[in-house]
Amino acid sequence: MSNQVTTKVSGMRIFCIANQKGGVGKTTTTVNLAAGLAQAGRRVLLVDLDPQGNATMGSGIDKRALDPTVYDVLLETTPISAARKRSPTGGYDVLGANRELAGAEVELVELEHREKRLKLALQAVKDDYDFVLIDCPPSLSMLTLNGLCAVQNGVINVFGLPHHRKYVFGVVRRVRIAGRVAEGVVHTVQQRVGARRVGQDELGARQTP
Ligand SMILES: Nc1ncnc2c1ncn2[C@@H]1O[C@H](COP(=O)(O)OP(=O)(O)OP(=O)(O)O)[C@@H](O)[C@H]1O
Ligand SMILES: [Mg+2]
Repeated sequence: MSNQVTTKVSGMRIFCIANQKGGVGKTTTTVNLAAGLAQAGRRVLLVDLDPQGNATMGSGIDKRALDPTVYDVLLETTPISAARKRSPTGGYDVLGANRELAGAEVELVELEHREKRLKLALQAVKDDYDFVLIDCPPSLSMLTLNGLCAVQNGVINVFGLPHHRKYVFGVVRRVRIAGRVAEGVVHTVQQRVGARRVGQDELGARQTP
């Protein structure tokens, strides 16, 4: 039986949103995709693999009060079913993160099947969701590798400004290491206007009689 047939049987589609470049729109894309799919009636799990916890906060969950988190799932001390929380704003489930996750990077190095921990944990909830969306940190770390290895259907490589093009290839190399296929690149930002320029424009507008 091919992998593709197995994927269809399990029904759960897993996507990873990754790029080592920071601030290109990974988290914004993940949170909005999760909310949009939930609104369309799909059962969604958002996995926050970033110690910054921005996808967790963006889903209306306070990362500071969160325990257990994805960190406990990666260390195999807690199953996803006990660590997930419902987003009060988005109508989807969240496997949240906070700064504790930064420690996992070091701790995982010593452990068995360290890059497949998320993939294995997701097997236990394969009947609970139609989509799993994994938000990665801005690095090509062990955390990102866990996200890439969990992928069944594709990697969404978020790509901001034209000069960020080079970062696409870094992710593609990492995806090959994980034995996955990069299926899509999402262009998020066409043009960025500096904060000073925005301030000037706003000031100018206000001063106009
Ligand atoms: N499509 C877009 N167009 C313009 N601005 C965007 C877009 N998507 C996100 N942004 C803005 O860019 C900034 C960074 O977005 P976001 O936090 O989603 O990036 P990120 O890649 O997850 O960052 P990090 O690498 O730090 O996790 C935010 O201020 C966000 O509002
Ligand atoms: Mg982010």
